[in-house]
Amino acid sequence: MSQNSVVTAENLTLSYKKEEPILTDINLDIKTKDFVFITGKSGSGKSTLLKSFYGALPVQAGRLNVCGINLHNISKANKNFLRKHLGVVFQDYKLIDSWSIEKNVMLPLFIAGFSKDVCLSQAHKLLKHVKLLHKADKYPLELSGGEQQRAAVARALAHNPILILADEPTGNLDDYSSGVIWDLLKGANEHLGTTVIAVTHRIPSLLRVSYRHFIIDNGGIDEVS
Ligand SMILES: Nc1ncnc2c1ncn2[C@@H]1O[C@H](COP(=O)(O)OP(=O)(O)O)[C@@H](O)[C@H]1O
Ligand SMILES: [Mg+2]
Repeated sequence: MSQNSVVTAENLTLSYKKEEPILTDINLDIKTKDFVFITGKSGSGKSTLLKSFYGALPVQAGRLNVCGINLHNISKANKNFLRKHLGVVFQDYKLIDSWSIEKNVMLPLFIAGFSKDVCLSQAHKLLKHVKLLHKADKYPLELSGGEQQRAAVARALAHNPILILADEPTGNLDDYSSGVIWDLLKGANEHLGTTVIAVTHRIPSLLRVSYRHFIIDNGGIDEVS
């Protein structure tokens, strides 16, 4: 693994049942500042691969290293380290419905141990970027799907993670919210050097970013050159 690798997989095999591997012998080397799109048919294993990156699915065979952490038999301390240095965005937002938007965005900053003042000012900065500052004190279910996802992306970026994992972040969204989200991920990548790995059905054509594209098919992954 080279110094500026953020995700490396060597002969990685992933499965839910040992005898039925979903992905086999995956090899990958994602570097700092890479902007990566992963596409593939429904059920091909895109979410499965991302799950293994954030430690939600154990490594069945082979090696996986994310942000310098070996994911094989990961310890609780290393899982916490990953939580502090990753930002994850899901298709269904996963905001906490009983918390205001502002408090949701502050969550990763609380976990990282920042003071309340810092959490609040950083949350407001991010909410401004996603054009939601005026809804900071609303609750998730008072917002549209696009607005909830913009809040979820603000939350994922709030603690300035090394790596963002986004699983079909704009899958259900209108063009405006999709545009805001891709622009924000691009901005983090360009200005903060955040590595972005996004699963998507369609690579956004208007996004001017140089990216790497991988396709998952038939239990394997290939880079499109
Ligand atoms: N929790 C699970 N338990 C068992 N099988 C699962 C689970 N999640 C997904 N799968 C199976 O793994 C395969 C890949 O799923 P997934 O990674 O969600 O695909 P994608 O995200 O590419 O649509 C599918 O055949 C799916 O049925
Ligand atoms: Mg999926």
